[in-house]
Amino acid sequence: MQKITMSEALQCTSPQPVSIVCSPMPGGMVNLATVAWWTYLESDPAMIGFSMWKESFTYALLQGGGSLALCIPGEVIADETLKCGTVSGRDVSKAIEYNIELYPAKVPFPVHSRVSFICTIEKMVEVGDCGFFICNIEEIYFNEEERQIFAWGSSQNLAPLTCNMNQE
Ligand SMILES: Cc1cc2nc3c(=O)[nH]c(=O)nc-3n(C[C@H](O)[C@H](O)[C@H](O)COP(=O)(O)O)c2cc1C
Repeated sequence: MQKITMSEALQCTSPQPVSIVCSPMPGGMVNLATVAWWTYLESDPAMIGFSMWKESFTYALLQGGGSLALCIPGEVIADETLKCGTVSGRDVSKAIEYNIELYPAKVPFPVHSRVSFICTIEKMVEVGDCGFFICNIEEIYFNEEERQIFAWGSSQNLAPLTCNMNQE
């Protein structure tokens, strides 16, 4: 046993299942932000949560509550998912700029998603420099053709599991 830091712990527990949080913007488009700090919270009622940096555009868009989609992107859009996690929607309309096709649900999400949760925000809890959004799930979409990607190491490498018995 050895003592380690939080960032080392994050690397030691990699890979993390990566998601894209899709937040409605005024005008009908959605902003796309990559989020690895998401979790299941409850199965009945179905609930998930995720932690979002307060300086992000996503935090600003969702601060007042409302709906969102949290999708698990497929391998086909691994590069685009990384870009959605390095650029802010304040500067770039990511779905348009990165050519990410959207599925026309109540809250649109990338077509190349394995799973997508359509949610409404129950409440937000401030956690240091982040807000933790607790969400009720309204609908769940699934496409078995898409292969799930994970964030490896320091989160700059997004790729599927190499040995993945459930998703072969
Ligand atoms: C693999 C990966 C995982 C990330 N996970 C999170 C996360 O869990 N929470 C967070 O606040 N930011 C996370 N980020 C950073 C945000 O995606 C980044 O700040 C993004 O630019 C926010 O976009 P927005 O300003 O359009 O909301 C992650 C980035 C990457 C590449």
